[in-house]
Amino acid sequence: MTIYREANAFDLPVFASLDKELFPYSPWSATQYKEEFSTPTRHFVVAVDEEQNILGYAGVFAPGAVEADILTVGVVPEHRGKGIAKALMSLITDWATAQGSTAMMLEVKVDNAAAIGLYQSLGYSTLNVRKDYFGAGLDAQVMRLELS
Ligand SMILES: CC(C)(COP(=O)(O)OP(=O)(O)OC[C@H]1O[C@@H](n2cnc3c(N)ncnc32)[C@H](O)[C@@H]1OP(=O)(O)O)[C@@H](O)C(=O)NCCC(=O)NCCS
Repeated sequence: MTIYREANAFDLPVFASLDKELFPYSPWSATQYKEEFSTPTRHFVVAVDEEQNILGYAGVFAPGAVEADILTVGVVPEHRGKGIAKALMSLITDWATAQGSTAMMLEVKVDNAAAIGLYQSLGYSTLNVRKDYFGAGLDAQVMRLELS
């Protein structure tokens, strides 16, 4: 059974460790997660199994009645394709909506077909491409979802 809950401080080192595997081009350290986590405009959620092993995580920056930014979303490889990312995205989108966010924004590597497929399935559309956003030769697609 997959359980979804708000992240806590004990999850942060695991996020940092998973980032190295899932986002080798832009991992966050545990310190960066701690800083983000302690800021009230940020919200992190996690999917865990019954033994509290982390299966996936997501975070959003929602500073009020403006656009919210997706900070991260990742699912461990063995648990992909089960709807976990979709559920995590729904939780952070609901939280951003409750903060008054007008839209959701994100940057995704242009060759990340799985993530682009995820966002398109949720209704996101592509605004433009930012060259070298994740480093030299690593372009990002900027995607947006209007919130009603
Ligand atoms: C992208 C990622 C988060 C998707 O997680 P997931 O739990 O497997 O996704 P879900 O099972 O919730 O899939 C939801 C939808 O996303 C799309 N999707 C998921 N994987 C896909 C793939 N490999 N190719 C194309 N579309 C895909 C589908 O539309 C899917 O809906 P469907 O199953 O009804 O067809 C996961 O592959 C991952 O962690 N990748 C590495 C980290 C990363 O790149 N994060 C995004 C950074 S911007």
